[in-house]
Amino acid sequence: MTELQIVTLPDEGLRKKARPVTKFDDDLQTLIDNMIETMRTANGVGLAAPQIGQSLQLAVIETLPKEDENGEDIPNSRELFVIVNPRIVWESREVIDGIEGCLSIPGYVGEVERAYAVRVRAQDRRGKPLKLRLKGWTARIFQHEIDHLDGVLYIDKLTDREKFWTDEEYYNMRQEELEAEDAEENVDETAVPENRD
Ligand code: CO
Repeated sequence: MTELQIVTLPDEGLRKKARPVTKFDDDLQTLIDNMIETMRTANGVGLAAPQIGQSLQLAVIETLPKEDENGEDIPNSRELFVIVNPRIVWESREVIDGIEGCLSIPGYVGEVERAYAVRVRAQDRRGKPLKLRLKGWTARIFQHEIDHLDGVLYIDKLTDREKFWTDEEYYNMRQEELEAEDAEENVDETAVPENRD
């Protein structure tokens, strides 16, 4: 397998609508395997063909590990999807804000509102029809990757222009928030009167 070069902004291919996949041949299978390897090497949860310079309606997605009751990752619980010629056929009215990054916009993250749940129709790597129901983070990743196939990037959809940070800014902000939460908890504990009636 070959690791592919991930293109970054301002690459023009990232802004074009990708062409449908019509041939499910050996070349496509090799491309898909290489995209999976490239996504994993880059520690990504998704990679769309325009991100490796191919104008094709194709993306690979690997979900985050599921967690047990103690918040520990369950081994081998990541789920791999290959979607070809996908379209979102339904999205929930319920929306949710979340923080996204993109392998084609390295070093930044931003807040984006997405549908909480979506239904997707696509083809698998051999061309067989797929119907998927997705929710939560997995639904978010699908929406992000399918946007790539339309030339749309998450920075087009920020909830607020201010809600866009460098990785470092975001990390520091989160640290401060966590510290503030800790401080608040401590205050609350000491603020409880000893005799309440
Ligand atoms: Co992306």
